[in-house]
Amino acid sequence: MADRTHGNPFTAVLSWVLDQRNKDPKVAPVPRGARLDGRTCLVHVIMACRSGIPEAGQDVRAESGSDKVEMIQVDLSDFDSIASFCDALRDRNVTLDAAVFNAGVVPVTSRRSKHGLELMFAVNFLAKFVVLNRLLHDGIIPNAVYGDNSRAEDPPRVIFVSSETHRSSIPIDFDTFGEPIEYGVSDGVKYYGLSKLHLTTYFQELSRRLNPGGNGENPDVCVHAICPGAVNSNMAREAPTWLKPILKPAMALFFQKPEKASIPVDYLVASGEMGEKTGEYMHMLRIKDPSEAAMDPDNGALLWSKTEDLLRRHHVI
Ligand SMILES: NC(=O)c1ccc[n+]([C@@H]2O[C@H](COP(=O)([O-])OP(=O)(O)OC[C@H]3O[C@@H](n4cnc5c(N)ncnc54)[C@H](OP(=O)(O)O)[C@@H]3O)[C@@H](O)[C@H]2O)c1
Repeated sequence: MADRTHGNPFTAVLSWVLDQRNKDPKVAPVPRGARLDGRTCLVHVIMACRSGIPEAGQDVRAESGSDKVEMIQVDLSDFDSIASFCDALRDRNVTLDAAVFNAGVVPVTSRRSKHGLELMFAVNFLAKFVVLNRLLHDGIIPNAVYGDNSRAEDPPRVIFVSSETHRSSIPIDFDTFGEPIEYGVSDGVKYYGLSKLHLTTYFQELSRRLNPGGNGENPDVCVHAICPGAVNSNMAREAPTWLKPILKPAMALFFQKPEKASIPVDYLVASGEMGEKTGEYMHMLRIKDPSEAAMDPDNGALLWSKTEDLLRRHHVI
């Protein structure tokens, strides 16, 4: 049964603050000085962005001291934009060693994408399925199952930024799968959790499909997910005006800086340990199981087939 920790905005914020004080064992972050020279990584804020072009890339160049930073525009709520983005990678013969799917959205009230889909469902989950469907079939992420270009000796990594809110979600209703839902300020967090349950269930299923017959060891593609904990980001940009004067200072005081929140992502991308496993979920620097619902292979298989049906109806696949 789902817990209710993230069922409303107040309990969610409280649990995020308490998470910062958790003393359970953690993995050691990737050491300073560890290098990824010669590898190509797809990190939303660096390479594939909706906005901030070229400024975000220039900042990354300046801070990293590297000029090997390229930006490609993509709006993940728009299937046409995703197709152009994937075409651009294919046309440049890009091979990705690691792809980090970070983008997420929390609309203050329900909104629809250009294609009539609920926006959190579309961006937080569906877009990742669509992008990966292309990247895997085109062999941009080397793999044996869809791409026929396995690189098992040095497996590529796919990392999703999910959220602990997936644990408090209502179950996925497969009878109404993909149908737009309506929500307001008070229940938005609940449906945000649902979008992250979709994503977390998908990440588990993708890991199984890309590594059939495996037990998580010696993977062909390493597929992992992470909840970064509470981050003082721009996530609450759509919060009601009356709430912002309380929320902004509270987030600045109690939530982590984005630089710190990204450390576990670095770990999943760069640690030797995570290159030998698949299907791992981390909450900040702690390895945990995702929720039972997300790990259930029947849920994963149903999610996959319902997603394919939906995308066929939209002529995306
Ligand atoms: N903040 C937290 O406390 C927290 C906790 C758990 C998990 N997370 C997850 O962490 C990830 C990053 O969020 P954040 O906290 O850094 O929030 P953020 O500051 O709002 O960043 C969200 C990012 O997603 C991008 N994005 C949104 N819609 C998009 C679209 N249609 N196409 C392309 N890009 C789009 C945004 O691009 P623009 O710059 O163009 O808007 C922005 O770069 C999300 O997946 C979120 O769910 C955050």
